[in-house]
Amino acid sequence: MTEFDNRFGQLEADGGSRIVDPARADVSEDHADTGLRPKALTEYIGQKNVTNNLEVFITAAKQRGEPLDHVLFYGPPGLGKTTLASIIAAELGVDIRITSGPAIERAIDLAALLTNLKQGDVLFIDEVHRLNRTAEEILYSAMEDFAIDMIVGKGPSARSYRLPLPGFTLIGATTRAGSLSAPLRDRFGVIGKFEHYSPEELGSIIRRSAGLLDIAIDEDSILELARRSRGTPRVANRLLKRVRDFAQVMGEGHIDREITQKTLRSLGIDEKGLEGLDRDILRLIIERFGGGPVGIDTIAASIGEEKITIEDVYEPYLMQVGLLHRTPKGRVASRDAWQWLGLEPPELPEQPEQPEQIEIEINN
Ligand code: ADE
Repeated sequence: MTEFDNRFGQLEADGGSRIVDPARADVSEDHADTGLRPKALTEYIGQKNVTNNLEVFITAAKQRGEPLDHVLFYGPPGLGKTTLASIIAAELGVDIRITSGPAIERAIDLAALLTNLKQGDVLFIDEVHRLNRTAEEILYSAMEDFAIDMIVGKGPSARSYRLPLPGFTLIGATTRAGSLSAPLRDRFGVIGKFEHYSPEELGSIIRRSAGLLDIAIDEDSILELARRSRGTPRVANRLLKRVRDFAQVMGEGHIDREITQKTLRSLGIDEKGLEGLDRDILRLIIERFGGGPVGIDTIAASIGEEKITIEDVYEPYLMQVGLLHRTPKGRVASRDAWQWLGLEPPELPEQPEQPEQIEIEINN
């Protein structure tokens, strides 16, 4: 099993099997996606706040003949962090090694990865917030001094050695920048926050993917899919492939509005891009807890889903479309959420308290 397979095996195990779950990137799907991934910055759509600056930093590093400074990407899953890391390596003209925090079990695993890098290479660590303590401590000197400190032997004869490393760029990705320890976070020179994509950007991504896959699809259908892909390219590409299946089996091959609507209906994806579990969460908060606030542990236990999946996958989108608020006392369904589920909101709905501060703001 390669590191890559391992990584996606892990995500699959964590992420469930729902079509809109952007954390799910099963192996076969990913193989199919490899051809869809942009290979150069000019092909990469959206995330301009991140890519515009990166373009400058990459050019500057190349002009100086130095490795690019370490980069941290944070934001919800499925927004193209790994893709952009691969593009950075390609633009720098270096190799990339891809791994993830949970896959690095022992310090020696990380030491082996680091010592095998060549000058200027990129090491990409997904879910970098899940690195264990010893691995994280090795990274400190590796990132700062391009060296690993090792202790050989025991007791009075123990000696400390400094193993030099080639200059390299660490690109860390995380869905939760707040979970990163301050010493690790401080060692990244460039920090990029990934945002959900606009329907227009997703439309461009779907148009591009349809072209690459030679799928005939009309503009109406592209826009419909874009609107229902919860701001996430991975979901958009997956929906495109599912509509292609329906068009092939139940239609005449080309994708039109009718077949698109039929597919989305069959997949249980509504006009806002919500799927069953999104609605289950809202319905639980509203019907069992009068609209909230409800603690995340209660929601996770009642729904039968991992707390981390609800927090990282479902809630960011529900909050973005204004159906859910996170407050210090728990989750609250908005008035719009009641209405979306066809329910009558209470006369005087409780105003949500100040939203919980969950994101760190970092300026490059
Ligand atoms: N495929 C997935 N993410 C993409 C992006 N940001 N731009 C272009 N194609 C993509």
